[in-house]
Amino acid sequence: MKVLVINGPNLARLDIRDSSIYGDMSYPQLVAHIEGAAKTHGFTADVRQSDDEAMIISWLHEAADSSIPVIINPAAFTHYSYAIRDAAELVKAPLIEVHLSNPLAREEFRHTSVISGVANGTIGGFGPNSYVLALIALKALTS
Ligand code: DQA
Repeated sequence: MKVLVINGPNLARLDIRDSSIYGDMSYPQLVAHIEGAAKTHGFTADVRQSDDEAMIISWLHEAADSSIPVIINPAAFTHYSYAIRDAAELVKAPLIEVHLSNPLAREEFRHTSVISGVANGTIGGFGPNSYVLALIALKALTS
């Protein structure tokens, strides 16, 4: 089964973000980690990244139109993008929100997610393994 993995703004620059928060993996390494775990759990992962809200919305529309499950790290859009929230709501296949860090343990503005309410669940704080845990949850939801 296919899964669309969407990564939001600044995640392609993990190499220069704070490694004490985001760890040591570069974005290409994160993509390989997700693709490998997806294969292990019987999925083919289509991993994408964009800094552009409109692009992320169009990918969510694509998933909604094709009934493809989604794992999404909306990055900073998590905290304020009602447009991404409304697009995520259109996805009727499972949709899981993930974060590398634990936003609830960070600055107050990160404590709000406008996406969580339309996700099946949220996984954060486990670094790249947040995505692996999401794949395991997705497997349970789809089998
Ligand atoms: C993040 C957490 C967000 O608050 C932040 O804006 C990000 C990454 C994470 O994966 O921990 O860019 O989504």
